Amino acid sequence: MTIIRTVKKMHQSVRKIAGEGKTIGLVPTMGFLHEGHLALIRRAKRLADVVIVSIFVNPTQFAPHEDFNRYPRDEKGDIKKIKEVGGDIVFIPAKAEIYPDHFQTFVAVEKLTQTLEGAMRPTHFRGVTTIVAKLFNITRPDVAIFGMKDYQQAMVLKQMTFDLGYPIKFIIAPTVREKDGLAMSSRNKYFTAAQRKEALCLYYALKKAKAMVTKEKIRDCRKIEKEMKAIIKKVCPSAAIDYIAFTDFTTLTPLKKVASETVCSLAVRVHKVRLIDNMKLL
Ligand code: PAF
Repeated sequence: MTIIRTVKKMHQSVRKIAGEGKTIGLVPTMGFLHEGHLALIRRAKRLADVVIVSIFVNPTQFAPHEDFNRYPRDEKGDIKKIKEVGGDIVFIPAKAEIYPDHFQTFVAVEKLTQTLEGAMRPTHFRGVTTIVAKLFNITRPDVAIFGMKDYQQAMVLKQMTFDLGYPIKFIIAPTVREKDGLAMSSRNKYFTAAQRKEALCLYYALKKAKAMVTKEKIRDCRKIEKEMKAIIKKVCPSAAIDYIAFTDFTTLTPLKKVASETVCSLAVRVHKVRLIDNMKLL
């Protein structure tokens, strides 16, 4: 496995790989890898000859009051994990490699970023699309893989890939959960054992929503939302709900009634840690 830290070396490497007729799979990450990331790497290995994993805690997707500085980092541990699952190249650029002095070009997807996370975090997706466009340009992948846990991010990036005409197969892989249902996230590290139990409120609420739709045949989103709120408050009394939303899977259009391809997404602050999760209801 090779570790590359500069854009120049990465360009040289991908030119060589393409010259040998091999395909490239890219798994972009912000590091502090967990089983969810490793599942993406394993999937990439099945789809491409050479798998590149990028590790870069991208400052432009964090607002000034967010957790950029304390975002968990473990470069050594990450490299070990990537090696174990068979990643071929780890791209770990320094900030100046990605955002040199006088950097001033951003990529923005306009419509899909107006709701859900985009409404709460107005500069977030501009940072995500900019870094991922840069990573696409630097690593020239044939396949790129993102997790469904960040559902809106995946849809925004899919749109960007299409709009900018990148010849990249765009894969959205299922959310990986802990045994008890908690969606894997690098931010779970912030919790004590007791708080972690309360963090399950998102999963329990989503499970209830799914059961209401599939078993009780309820379609009224308001009714479902009310039950979800009650569960969240019961499991984590101090929780602050940023939103619970019901949207069409592809367009992210808000829905009042659950129809086919409806996704329920929610963002909840659990002991000051902001968690997101989602589930397809139908
Ligand atoms: O999902 C993430 O970890 C990040 O948003 C991504 C896609 C690596 C861009 O920084």
